[in-house]
Amino acid sequence: MAGAFALLFAAIAAVCFLPPPAASQGCKSQNLGSNRVFASCSDLPHLSASLHWTYNSAAGELSIAFVAPPAAEAGWVAWAINPTGMGMAGSQTLAAFRGADGRMVVKTYNITGYGALKESKIAFDTTDLAAEYAGGTMRMFGTVKLGKEMTVVNQVWQVGGSVTAGVPDKHAFNPDNLASEGTLDLLRGVSSGSGASGTKKRNIHGILNAVSWGILLPIGAIFARYLKTFQSADPAWFYLHVSCQLIGYIVGVAGWGTGLNLGSKGIHQTTHRNIGITLFSLGTLQVFALFLRPNKDHKYRFYWNIYHYLVGYTVIILGIINVFKGLKILDTDQKWTTAYIIVICILGGIALLLEAITWMIVLRRKSRNPKA
Ligand SMILES: *[C@@H]1O[C@H](CO)[C@@H](O)[C@H](O)[C@H]1NC(C)=O
Repeated sequence: MAGAFALLFAAIAAVCFLPPPAASQGCKSQNLGSNRVFASCSDLPHLSASLHWTYNSAAGELSIAFVAPPAAEAGWVAWAINPTGMGMAGSQTLAAFRGADGRMVVKTYNITGYGALKESKIAFDTTDLAAEYAGGTMRMFGTVKLGKEMTVVNQVWQVGGSVTAGVPDKHAFNPDNLASEGTLDLLRGVSSGSGASGTKKRNIHGILNAVSWGILLPIGAIFARYLKTFQSADPAWFYLHVSCQLIGYIVGVAGWGTGLNLGSKGIHQTTHRNIGITLFSLGTLQVFALFLRPNKDHKYRFYWNIYHYLVGYTVIILGIINVFKGLKILDTDQKWTTAYIIVICILGGIALLLEAITWMIVLRRKSRNPKA
């Protein structure tokens, strides 16, 4: 059994730690004009964006060109340095879009949270802000006075599809939009826009929940339903069932916590979230109901059993549904969804087979001993 678990886990882990696809449009081939030549350039790994830059270490000034296709022609592109951490909150942002008069403008935003944007000063002085739009791509230029202490900076970039009354609207929450962050080493001239932290968090969330709600709990239910038939497996089936469900529940609660954390970072997936909350509530109820379980021959035991089956099967079905929803949100390669489908089919097949065997045993017992 331990071997099977290890295999399942390995399969799920492999699903989730795929490297993100690399952008390949090639910043080196981008010609920004003869008066816009930069020392370094890097294709950022998400949103088909690239960054060109020159760092003047004597002056502590960073000149950049950020090149990316906005989500729609009337949209915006943004690039930011986050001096306080990774991600959007705290980022000192330059955003380019078409202004009311039809000309491209660049505005700065001190982004403190996930609410509506308001144009504001940022922590760095900026000069030479300019932007162009051509052929579906926006190019944003600027010089940021970083000071001499910052040599490796956290960068965040983003694109959106619309601007309302001179304010960029919310961007999409696709995996690419959420992973667009990384670091920029000004002295070594490298950009490691791996976006590792955001993607990793979502992958960990996926692994924990797929393994717990999506695999362990169904396995635990199979233990209970089919081992029970064998008198020799009593009370072993009970301990197997309880251990499996408890481990599943604990891992599941950890996974649920990572989900809440993602939610608090502004990633909102309403249905997925509501199912997750329902699962956590029902799972918790199920654990506590264990302590209220009446004795085997107590007259209420029958009702307790009905309750336990109903909640248990609901959790399993919702758990599997939510794993599929999560896989869709993560937008991983189809083969990982296929892998989970295969795991579920194998479990389903085992359950069907055991169901048949159980019926055979029960019927044979009955025919041998009709009174039982
Ligand atoms: C940006 O906003 C934060 C939080 O409100 C504030 O502490 C900080 O001083 C602001 N930075 C600038 C340059 O205004």
